[in-house]
Amino acid sequence: MNNTEIKQLSYTEKYRPQFHFSPEANWMNDPNGMVYFEGEYHLFYQYHPKGTTWGPMHWGHAISTDLVHWEHLPIALKPDEHGMIFSGSAVVDWNDTSGFFNGQPGLVAMFTHADTYPDSERPRQRQSIAYSNDNGRTWVTYEGNPVISDESITDFRDPKVFWHKETNKWVMILASGQTVRLYTSKNLKDWEFASEFGDGYGSHEGVWECPDLFELPVDEDSNQKKWVLFLSIGDDPRYEEGSRTQYFIGEFDGETFTNDHTPETTLWIDKGRDNYAGVSWSDIPHEDGRRIYLGWMSNWRYANVTPTKEWRSAMTIPRVLSLRTMEEGIRLVQKPIQELQNIREKSIQMTNQTIIPSENIVSNIQGNTLEIIAEFEIGEASEFGFKVCKSKQEETVIGYDVIQQRLFIDRTNSGKSDFNESFVGKHEGDLAPYHNQKVKLHLFVDWSSVEVFGNNGELVLTDLIFPDQNSKDLELYTVGGDVKVKTLEIHTLKSIWGK
Ligand code: FRU
Repeated sequence: MNNTEIKQLSYTEKYRPQFHFSPEANWMNDPNGMVYFEGEYHLFYQYHPKGTTWGPMHWGHAISTDLVHWEHLPIALKPDEHGMIFSGSAVVDWNDTSGFFNGQPGLVAMFTHADTYPDSERPRQRQSIAYSNDNGRTWVTYEGNPVISDESITDFRDPKVFWHKETNKWVMILASGQTVRLYTSKNLKDWEFASEFGDGYGSHEGVWECPDLFELPVDEDSNQKKWVLFLSIGDDPRYEEGSRTQYFIGEFDGETFTNDHTPETTLWIDKGRDNYAGVSWSDIPHEDGRRIYLGWMSNWRYANVTPTKEWRSAMTIPRVLSLRTMEEGIRLVQKPIQELQNIREKSIQMTNQTIIPSENIVSNIQGNTLEIIAEFEIGEASEFGFKVCKSKQEETVIGYDVIQQRLFIDRTNSGKSDFNESFVGKHEGDLAPYHNQKVKLHLFVDWSSVEVFGNNGELVLTDLIFPDQNSKDLELYTVGGDVKVKTLEIHTLKSIWGK
């Protein structure tokens, strides 16, 4: 697609997400370089500007002042003599430790340069930096690149940098084969190996990619804090889930991460299929205090063949992370950012409704950009929930299985699915009811995705769907008996694109 054609795109193309970030045109994968600086949230992303499948990687760029509405900016980083620009991160160098900014603060990005070893097909991945002293508008790649290389490791990528104030150093976490490595630096240019984590821990059912490491509060009313390590694992045909993201909880002393869990414990950030390579924003102001991340809303299993035309892939909605103590231990909790409330358009609220089988109390509501918040009290029902993007031919079911105590998305009959045989299916996760048999569902439905947050973010499922644009019916259903909806809010959401 040429530039004039791209400019004509209106964000009303078939399957185009209305309130999720997607590139104007062409291919996108991982979010990169997310940083907040001088009133702007930056979102860079793995981008192939010349096609709608993965190709020579650039960093695409967009900015936002509210994490909801995005402005596209020109490509930030392009392949150069060291190779393509793979995933990485960005930070504000507040004290000019790098010396790039004449004593002022500025942005430094750290990413993987990917090419092949001379006269060989063997991939070569090395870490490099670039800096910007005009708020990310233009970037200078550092003349001393690459700043870290290690010939012994082939998969060696996706550096995520942060400032560790207790040790007064930059820390960088990097995927290296089936482990992560941590390095430290005083100036973002010279890096020293600190430690390695991961051998024997968690899931190794795919290549390790895109780590992140950050501290989070545990429970709102305690002073306890823990470190969380995000780690994505690539698609391996032997496992049905495709690519997915796990996390570890533990301690970090500036050099070494210590996992609180047994080696065989594996925790997943999302039990749907389409939330990958998620990492968090750097430098969100202290007064705000949130740790916000988003993921690439796709799966390497079929990412290159999803049925969109002008562009391919979107990001999840931004989500706030925290930790909560549950029966099984401390677990990650995710909530949609509150800024999304500003795109609510029409709203309907109900309280204390009894839902009976084969009656649909929301049959008058139509829409395919919806936010739904419902608090249920389980009665005699064996299953209940919502059917969204529904017509005579198709529906996506977001349901709660009372007997198994599981929340699920069933996209078996959700619309177009013939592009990959593993796309259809039902994806689920454990979710126990809370006080007096309550279950809370918070749903976001867009033109080609569903995200569901169970019990205030204890369990999250994110799935792509490709329904017909006219499949707009909504059903609130129950099976096997009554269920009570204590509170129900349904909001149609405005598009974040256009005028
Ligand atoms: C993850 C990933 C990264 C790599 C990038 C290349 O999806 O494989 O490890 O840097 O994509 O586009």
